[in-house]
Amino acid sequence: MKKKEENDLMGKIVSLCKRRGFVFQGSEIYGGLAGTYDYGHYGVALKNNIKQNWWKKFVDNRRDIYGMDASIIMNSKVWEASGHVAGFSDPMADGKQFNVMFKTSVGAGEEATGAHLRPETAQGIFVNFKNTVDAFHPKLPFGIAQIGKAFRNEIAPRDFLFRQREFEQMEVEYFIRPEDWEKYFEYWRGEMLEWMEDIGLDMTKVHELEVPDADRAHYSKRTIDFEFDFPFGRKELFGLAYRTDFDLKNHKLEYIDEDAPSAPGKITPHVIEPSMGVDRILLALLVSVYAEDNKDGEARSYLKFKPNIAPVVCAVSPLLKNKPELVEYANTKVFAPLKIEFGRVAWDDNGNIGKRYRRQDEIGTPWCIVVDFDTLTDDTVTVRDRDTGKQERIKVNELKNYIKERI
Ligand code: GAP
Repeated sequence: MKKKEENDLMGKIVSLCKRRGFVFQGSEIYGGLAGTYDYGHYGVALKNNIKQNWWKKFVDNRRDIYGMDASIIMNSKVWEASGHVAGFSDPMADGKQFNVMFKTSVGAGEEATGAHLRPETAQGIFVNFKNTVDAFHPKLPFGIAQIGKAFRNEIAPRDFLFRQREFEQMEVEYFIRPEDWEKYFEYWRGEMLEWMEDIGLDMTKVHELEVPDADRAHYSKRTIDFEFDFPFGRKELFGLAYRTDFDLKNHKLEYIDEDAPSAPGKITPHVIEPSMGVDRILLALLVSVYAEDNKDGEARSYLKFKPNIAPVVCAVSPLLKNKPELVEYANTKVFAPLKIEFGRVAWDDNGNIGKRYRRQDEIGTPWCIVVDFDTLTDDTVTVRDRDTGKQERIKVNELKNYIKERI
């Protein structure tokens, strides 16, 4: 793509996000706050779908990964042990190092203790390693997964959701025997690729970068960055790191490996860590699915979400909103049952049908369902496909299955 088109694409995505209620600038009415964004109705829906899809694949569908939701404010001793107090810094323009962790204190006066907002969710997992082992007695290999906010006082936040000061991470710390690290590194590489494809990222824009020694984080012995061709350049989407036993050792945490094939006894497990930024994934997804074409002689922009990830699965409309019999039918016989089944169902009776289609296209709704006068006599509705614009008549009592088979 040419430079101007790239900038245009980013501008179009940012403006669509605001216009259609996906993402707003943080604290906007007071002039904003750099590096912060607020998610609106469809943005939250999309973000939730991304997180739920991830949680289902990596926690619910497995036996070896435990969930976790740790505090955002953590004792500063955690960050001393993890090496972040000493090493989590970026160079400023004049060459000085600036630690990007947000510092705070907890409690009043003399009693106050030093605390930090976590710059990664990972430490919330490590400091609960013993709790998890004591509660669930997991056998190696096993993992702990967490989705939650992380905070970094980035020197130069930029590129919309890409580099923020408050963002969300989805991380798995996968604990293994040291001799198995290469096998599980490769395994997690595959899992990540599979997941990205499943949510509908444009895989032609995804590239793997073997991070050279000098550029790796202080805890990592091997890192692959999965990069993505954003409109503003090829940039890190997320990382896969071999953190060795760095963190558990620093926190003085051990594990009794009774089933070790070689020498059963105390060990410090090693860690493979797939670490993703939710907001970056969401931005990459928007870039992947944004499309423009001409429908019925009119230019349109639309979001080609896979139905499993689209903020709205289908929209229901009465052909005319001033015909009570159409409204009543659409509401009780179509909208209500679909809403109960899928949740992510919109009611749209604003403007003419063409306008409604354009609006739903723009937020990426895969199907628009219209109740018209024929419906009242034959119990069929029009289902319009977002991508092709094609319409078909479907029996009302087959709608649920029609969507279920395609979602
Ligand atoms: N626990 C490992 C860790 O935090 P990282 O590479 O510093 O590793 C992981 O961060 C991921 O979090 C990144 O790949 C990116 O997706 C996301 N991320 C990091 N900083 C971010 C920021 N300022 N804004 C948005 N996402 C960010």
